[in-house]
Amino acid sequence: MRARMRWFLVVMVVACGGGGTAQTARAPRETADEWSKTSWERRHDVMTFTVLPNMGRLFQGFRGTTAPDLTCRSCHGKDAEAVGYKMPHGLPPLDPRRLPDESSSDPRIAKMAKFMREEVTPQMADLIGVGVADVSCFTCHPREERPE
Ligand code: HEC
Ligand code: HEC
Repeated sequence: MRARMRWFLVVMVVACGGGGTAQTARAPRETADEWSKTSWERRHDVMTFTVLPNMGRLFQGFRGTTAPDLTCRSCHGKDAEAVGYKMPHGLPPLDPRRLPDESSSDPRIAKMAKFMREEVTPQMADLIGVGVADVSCFTCHPREERPE
């Protein structure tokens, strides 16, 4: 519980852009429409200077590692460059009809799904400057194509 609280404070500092944290290039606030019109080069910059460092810290806190170990390929897949960083690509596919959540019988998946929904998804929206409604599990994860 205490570790959880401490982590919450870390998130708050990151979210509020506490002095000295990596660049948070999100003023003026962009709309989803603006992000969709943002050039590939500019997106690449936002990823490098804003998304990776902030998400790196978020995942580091979750995993409890001593240093951030998230890379571009964690989200974009091993062949990220070959596919021009198009998303979704490379992450485990999720079934939209049975999205994993806290009730999963696998404790690892249950914990991960909670972290994804409560922290990763809203943080991603914030970092690219779009509304929460414009980012979902499927912004990052492919849809599982499964015949009925
Ligand atoms: C936490 C996950 C995550 C990490 C880490 C990440 N990205 Fe991304 N990236 C995304 C998502 C999600 C999108 C698509 C957003 C959208 O819907 O437009 C994206 C989009 C992009 C795009 C635009 C692609 C296009 O088709 O327009 C580029 C370029 C890119 N990322 C490069 C990078 C680079 C380079 C790094 C490492 C420095 C990186 N990303 C790290 C999640 C991530
Ligand atoms: C910003 C990108 C992003 C978004 C949005 C996102 N995820 Fe993830 N997800 C990841 C990354 C990166 C990993 C891999 C983490 C690792 O390997 O430690 C992952 C891993 C997972 C896993 C573990 C898969 C496995 O088999 O190991 C589950 C389950 C999951 N996500 C569920 C969700 C759900 C449910 C949502 C929506 C509520 C969601 N994710 C939204 C990036 C994202």
